Amino acid sequence: MADPKGIAIVGSGYVGTVVAACMAKIGHRVVGVEIDEEKLSKLQSGSSYFYEPGLDEILRASIDNGTLQFTNDFELAMAQSEVVFLCVDTPPGEGGHPDTTNVMAAAKSIGRAIKSPHVIVTKSTVPVGSGNWLTTTIENVLDDDVDPSAISVVSNPEFLREGSAVMDFLHPERIVLGGSDERAVDLVEAAYKPILDQSFPGGRTAERPILVKTDRSTAETIKYAANAFLATKISFINEIAEICEWVNADVKEVALAMGLDSRISAMFLQAGVGWGGSCFGKDVEALAATARAYGQDPMILDATRAVNQHQRHRVVHKLQSHLRPLRGSRIALLGIAFKPETDDTRDAPSITIASELMARGAIVRAYDPMVKQIPELPDLQTGTDPFSVIERADAVVLVTEWDELRNLDLSVVAEKMRGNVFIDGRNAFDPARVEAVGLVYEGMGTGVVAPPRNSEPW
Ligand code: UDX
Repeated sequence: MADPKGIAIVGSGYVGTVVAACMAKIGHRVVGVEIDEEKLSKLQSGSSYFYEPGLDEILRASIDNGTLQFTNDFELAMAQSEVVFLCVDTPPGEGGHPDTTNVMAAAKSIGRAIKSPHVIVTKSTVPVGSGNWLTTTIENVLDDDVDPSAISVVSNPEFLREGSAVMDFLHPERIVLGGSDERAVDLVEAAYKPILDQSFPGGRTAERPILVKTDRSTAETIKYAANAFLATKISFINEIAEICEWVNADVKEVALAMGLDSRISAMFLQAGVGWGGSCFGKDVEALAATARAYGQDPMILDATRAVNQHQRHRVVHKLQSHLRPLRGSRIALLGIAFKPETDDTRDAPSITIASELMARGAIVRAYDPMVKQIPELPDLQTGTDPFSVIERADAVVLVTEWDELRNLDLSVVAEKMRGNVFIDGRNAFDPARVEAVGLVYEGMGTGVVAPPRNSEPW
């Protein structure tokens, strides 16, 4: 299986930049394409424009040794590649379907620039069936002297998690390739060979990923189904957490014991304020929209989303139960990013919680180690250190379980606060430690002490 003659990555967002850097790290010559001038110049200088652990080191090393370059020139990128990874974003569009405008534009730019055989690999999360549509789009704009049969589209969904994207790319559990053109699929497999064999420096030969080869629609569906299942798992445990509150059970122990059954597994069973980020909400909605488009009623997918929204409101309900009235109360939110180790605030629970609280007249201040403001909430006050937002707060809510926040000196927290309510939105603290400093602890499905919350529907 011959190595591809160069790799191009179109779209240097979270996914594209990680794929570009890692493909260079495992030994390929890589050209990353980015059309946004500001992002491009940052990447050309060897650093990413977002925070992702370990990424900048690989970017800089690969640019320095000449294996990776960034450009806005599609012709140059196509001339230097045989495999093109399409990594442009697909924001939520109408009716829950992903907006594929950027994918369409990138596909046309690729098609116009291609002069030789290419395999186009879709990493962007595109609606099921997009492989066919992409092939036609590219074929339609090819130069007359380029044979359309020299172009093939392979689906290769990505499963990277923000915050551990480099590790996830280099040491995946599985690689999914979908396509019916054997030669094209083989070429993409060859691009992944160092990862499949874990033969690059730092590879873990005892943990080789499993290669799943399938057809394109199946590969596209795998991506949606995997994300929807993870989101459902979280919503499931969050529903159990609420039941735990009523029956005085501890969801942490319930999840632990459930997870000991290998059919269930303990992963993604952490109850809390629920999931956020750029993928879960968008993908669950898109899959539900696909079902609806065929007249199917996606009952589980709809419930998964509804439970997740409800989690955010439950935090507000908890505060309302403790702080009566909520209006005029001062609330400190600890954590803004949708999860630790990222500066991403897309669909972050903190946004819904802060805006609901502010709408009800509470005074909200938030702190995050990486996020200094939320574009959607320009009025939200933020602090430069956790204690500045905790100062004279009536209640503190842990929204994102950063290590820095888990390790806060609780006696200083209690000293700085005006009130004593501590809502642990991620079940990250030992209730006894919080209570030992005189605070009233309440988690999500654990240690609930407040009177019953109002059950007004949202
Ligand atoms: C996710 C998928 O994991 C990844 O495979 C896909 O490619 C993109 O979407 P990501 O959004 O980066 O990755 O974050 P992830 O670590 O999966 O967490 C998603 C959200 O779920 C976070 O808000 C996290 O706080 C929350 N979560 C996760 C829980 O509430 N409980 C859990 O047990 C696990």
